[in-house]
Amino acid sequence: MAPVVLFAGNIEKRGAYGEHLPAAAAAAGIEIDLRLDPADADPAAVDYIILAPDGPVTDFAPYTRLGGILNLWAGVEAALGLELPRDVPLVRMVEDGLTLGMIDYVTGHVLRHHLDIDRYIGTAPIAEWELDYPPLARDRTVGILGLGALGGACARHLAGHGFRVIGWSRGAKEIPGVECRSGAQALDQTIAEAEILVLLLPLTKATRRILDATRIALMPLGACLVNAARGPLIDHRALMQALNAGRLRHATLDVYDVEPMPPDDPYWVHPRVTITPHIASVTRPETASQAIVAQIARHRRGEPFLHVVDRARGY
Ligand SMILES: NC(=O)c1ccc[n+]([C@@H]2O[C@H](COP(=O)([O-])OP(=O)(O)OC[C@H]3O[C@@H](n4cnc5c(N)ncnc54)[C@H](OP(=O)(O)O)[C@@H]3O)[C@@H](O)[C@H]2O)c1
Repeated sequence: MAPVVLFAGNIEKRGAYGEHLPAAAAAAGIEIDLRLDPADADPAAVDYIILAPDGPVTDFAPYTRLGGILNLWAGVEAALGLELPRDVPLVRMVEDGLTLGMIDYVTGHVLRHHLDIDRYIGTAPIAEWELDYPPLARDRTVGILGLGALGGACARHLAGHGFRVIGWSRGAKEIPGVECRSGAQALDQTIAEAEILVLLLPLTKATRRILDATRIALMPLGACLVNAARGPLIDHRALMQALNAGRLRHATLDVYDVEPMPPDDPYWVHPRVTITPHIASVTRPETASQAIVAQIARHRRGEPFLHVVDRARGY
């Protein structure tokens, strides 16, 4: 019998997933019994929930047959805030569209800071013929905190472009062309070397405010920051002070403590801050459907899911 798959994402996404999930299942040669509305599914018969933490299902107790909860977001801190059944694997989203989008965003902002593009465009372009060549990418150090699905892909891409890339993660990693580091001491060293620092860590107890005043003070004079992960990774007061003092050249921020960011937040008008409204990357229904179907197919074959969340670690 085909497994019952409940799409518990946002209502406005039902159309897209209603199209792409069956197409992905057909392409993979598996059958699924897809329900797009919780009202159309007997909870006790549902095998898999595709979850948006702000979606329509909030009480999971009646879902007694679940084999897996497939989160639509890469970040899982919101899902972990729900009362999910403890014995059902929670799987985070890893899919090509999300990864490729993040590579585009991070590469774009890293190149912008590397080339100092802002100097030549915008409200006050240069008025003097001044020959000031940027260094080659190979002479520029980019630090990436978090070398998972997204950070690892960005690190690989930037190293392929020629940057010296240093990356930091909890466990030891090997990524061709990337200097991979782990451990507390390596964190400070990585921050101290990075002329452009990219944050792609998950938000957990261990990473909240990881970029605090002491670590911001370690960043090289004139360094730039790109935060494409989560707002609370940063001590924002300390970041503001470093930007105001001109110690840091620029911060590209995609994520904030409160979203949408309140209208009176000083970041909105800060000349050294670029604000993007949490658009660095997004789960794309077509490619996400392929990833979801591949996960369900694994599970039906008796194989474990990939990218299962370690609830104790928080990611
Ligand atoms: N702005 C956006 O549009 C957007 C879109 C998607 C995702 N995101 C954010 O990006 C984050 C990363 O996503 P992902 O898919 O790459 O996650 P992931 O695959 O789980 O990777 C997380 C990375 O962070 C490392 N890490 C976690 N805790 C650590 C700690 N305490 N110390 C050192 N390293 C630590 C992990 O180390 P190990 O490899 O050793 O485990 C891993 O390398 C998500 O959690 C989400 O918040 C933002």
